[in-house]
Amino acid sequence: MGLKFLITGGLGHIGSKLIREYAKRDDIELIRILDNFLVQRYCSLFNLPNGKKYEFIEGDIMNDSDLKKAMKDIDVMIHLASITDAPATIAKPEETERINFEGTKKVVNVASNSGVKKFLFPSSTSVYGEAEGIVDENFKDFKPSSPYATTKLASERFLQERAKTEKMEIIVLRMGTIFGTSVGMRFHTAINKFCYLAATNKPLTVWDSALNSRRPYLGLNDDIRAFEFLEKHGKSGEIYNVVTKNYSMQDIIDAIKEFVPNLKIEITKSPLLNQKPYHASNEKIIKLGFEFKDDLRQSMKETLELFGKVSYSGIDNRELNKSD
Ligand SMILES: NC(=O)c1ccc[n+]([C@@H]2O[C@H](COP(=O)([O-])OP(=O)(O)OC[C@H]3O[C@@H](n4cnc5c(N)ncnc54)[C@H](O)[C@@H]3O)[C@@H](O)[C@H]2O)c1
Repeated sequence: MGLKFLITGGLGHIGSKLIREYAKRDDIELIRILDNFLVQRYCSLFNLPNGKKYEFIEGDIMNDSDLKKAMKDIDVMIHLASITDAPATIAKPEETERINFEGTKKVVNVASNSGVKKFLFPSSTSVYGEAEGIVDENFKDFKPSSPYATTKLASERFLQERAKTEKMEIIVLRMGTIFGTSVGMRFHTAINKFCYLAATNKPLTVWDSALNSRRPYLGLNDDIRAFEFLEKHGKSGEIYNVVTKNYSMQDIIDAIKEFVPNLKIEITKSPLLNQKPYHASNEKIIKLGFEFKDDLRQSMKETLELFGKVSYSGIDNRELNKSD
């Protein structure tokens, strides 16, 4: 008998790839997904790999009966469901608090009562806010600059406190901004959005202060491998920064320019929320034995390739077609 997994928000950018990668795991028997189609991504359920049992529950994490149904007989769960467009949460702080924080508390309570053994939670390095120098998991002077980041920080604190008395193991991944393709990918995060804009010949708007200061990014494949690694080697109650590398906007622009030579850039003096600098350390998870493998250039190439046939795109297809 293999493990039974529940992935809330499993149709999203991360979930849609995670369920496909976890289908390759011999130790998993069932992959159950709970998602409310907040963003309609039926495509995430298309053509799932053979050899696993999948169950899809169209339901809401705020609904007790959906949660109880979803948690039945589950061994491990990853709670991805969340409102995720950070800048957009500034206009809806109450709803963000309700889904991202109150929702997480509710999910943990039902998971605990249902006998779930492990609970993995995706937080975000945006909890650090703007910070000087290199920040690690011991950093305390958080300056979250959106309701999204504030609710992630509040959830982390709740989960750490809860882990002290909880039989269920609770592990938090403080993840950098994701880059990389998936069936259900979204484009409101920095690198993916830039690839889309570049591919459709639109200018990238870059905050001048962000050009040379770095912030943390995480390749999607690294993220999915980190979830499995921490499920197996992480310690309950601990938080782990999960960051492939810290890149500056200039690094990102230079990488895109390899494929889109005539890239247009507009420099703005107004601070852009998802370009605020902070440099997050990934030493803690590396010391535990994890290896980051994703490559920014390769992931960008794959993202740009998705748009490669769009007319008037500025992509240099000769560069894309070059084999690595
Ligand atoms: N993508 C990133 O850059 C990034 C970085 C750090 C942390 N995270 C976190 O990882 C998780 C997954 O991120 P993603 O990029 O896949 O996000 P996403 O927005 O692509 O997916 C979230 C999914 O949750 C579902 N959902 C939202 N509210 C729900 C509800 N009330 N009930 C049931 N389902 C609901 C949505 O329909 C969607 O399919 C989120 O918690 C996010 O905060 C993401």
